[in-house]
Amino acid sequence: MTSVSVLHCVCLIFFLACSADVEAARVVFNVMNGGAIADGKTDNSKVFENVFNQACQSSGRSVILIPGGTYMLRPVVFKGPCKGRVVFHVVGTLIAPSDMESSATDHWITFQYLDQLRIGGGGSLDGQGPSAWGQNTCSRSSSCKPLPASLKLDFVTNSRISKLTSINSKGVHMNIFACKGLELDQIYIKAPADSPNTDGIHIGSSSHINISDSMIATGDDCISMSPGSTNITMTNIKCGPGHGISVGSLGAQPDEEDVGVLTVRNCTFTGTQNGVRIKTWARPYASNVFDLTFENINMVNVNNPIIIDQQYCPGGNCQKGDSQVQIRDVTYRNIWGISSSKVAVALDCSQSKPCQQIQLSDINLLYHGPGGPAASTCFNAKGVADGRQQPPSCV
Ligand SMILES: *[C@@H]1O[C@H](CO)[C@@H](O)[C@H](O)[C@H]1NC(C)=O
Ligand SMILES: *[C@@H]1O[C@H](CO)[C@@H](O)[C@H](O)[C@H]1NC(C)=O
Ligand SMILES: *[C@@H]1O[C@H](CO)[C@@H](O)[C@H](O)[C@H]1NC(C)=O
Repeated sequence: MTSVSVLHCVCLIFFLACSADVEAARVVFNVMNGGAIADGKTDNSKVFENVFNQACQSSGRSVILIPGGTYMLRPVVFKGPCKGRVVFHVVGTLIAPSDMESSATDHWITFQYLDQLRIGGGGSLDGQGPSAWGQNTCSRSSSCKPLPASLKLDFVTNSRISKLTSINSKGVHMNIFACKGLELDQIYIKAPADSPNTDGIHIGSSSHINISDSMIATGDDCISMSPGSTNITMTNIKCGPGHGISVGSLGAQPDEEDVGVLTVRNCTFTGTQNGVRIKTWARPYASNVFDLTFENINMVNVNNPIIIDQQYCPGGNCQKGDSQVQIRDVTYRNIWGISSSKVAVALDCSQSKPCQQIQLSDINLLYHGPGGPAASTCFNAKGVADGRQQPPSCV
């Protein structure tokens, strides 16, 4: 037992007498004591699983400590529910394996069925993406199998990830599924601009998520929100390179959950393909997108700063159709900077389900290239514009 855990027992015994805060009592589980080898080569996944299971069985607050050093870890699942609250404190660097077999799973590090989980410590996850990106066939095949997400959270509630770096994920850096009540802050994500499908943070079927004070530079969307994403707030995010912050793609399949109540605020996009984007397939599957706010956003050389694309077709080989995803109540407020293409505002909505209540307020996007100045294009976009409008509004 460490001295901290002894203190924990003492405080429990004399709880009433010393009136200690039992919530502050904690037990530290150092992976080195569990037999971890920080040589960057030895597989530590069994050790980490054992240490996690011990922490999980312990009541109160358990800290899994990963000290400085480089720890190779094969794909692992840390599965709750746990008796108490688990803190996964990474000071060192975890590195993924680089063989083909480990690329066949959908995850590298998964946390499941946990409440009040904390992940942080200032350390890094290195997904070893360069070893796997060549196996990504998604640009050639729509039925491709995604490469592993570096960090996967499934059914995690009331939790926080803070001060964590993710570099070179094989697939998505952080995948959030069926979670509720998450705080993500001071997250640093980095992969090359040409790394395939390395979305920074991908969210689906999850609600009440705040992401703030973070930097995301990657090869795909900085943040993407798929069906069932609701009540999500993104504040003070620096995105780029990457494909921007995207809602969608939606309308790919029947019976998708709605997406709503999203806010993107005080963000900077630098050299990205898109700024704030909503994308839906032109397929016959209905769902709704509502109550979106994009405000105080600086665009620095962004190709499509403001874009709604209801004919999303990345392979360029789609049947002609009309999206049945209804988009309504979308506000763009105080968005300024430089567009690297002429069409700075592109609102391409569905013909049979036109976008409703689009509001553009104080837009100031310049384009300095050939064929300028900047322009807007609207198809089936209904709404209002007020304040400054550069380019001139088409709603
Ligand atoms: C997200 O931020 C809002 C406003 O700052 C706050 O009310 C809410 O509790 C936060 N949610 C989470 C899950 O931290
Ligand atoms: C968003 O959160 C609020 C407050 O918890 C809730 O009333 C509302 O129904 C939520 N909206 C959606 C679309 O989930
Ligand atoms: C966002 O930026 C505005 C204007 O710079 C500032 O007044 C506001 O406090 C910021 N909000 C947050 C949540 O950071």
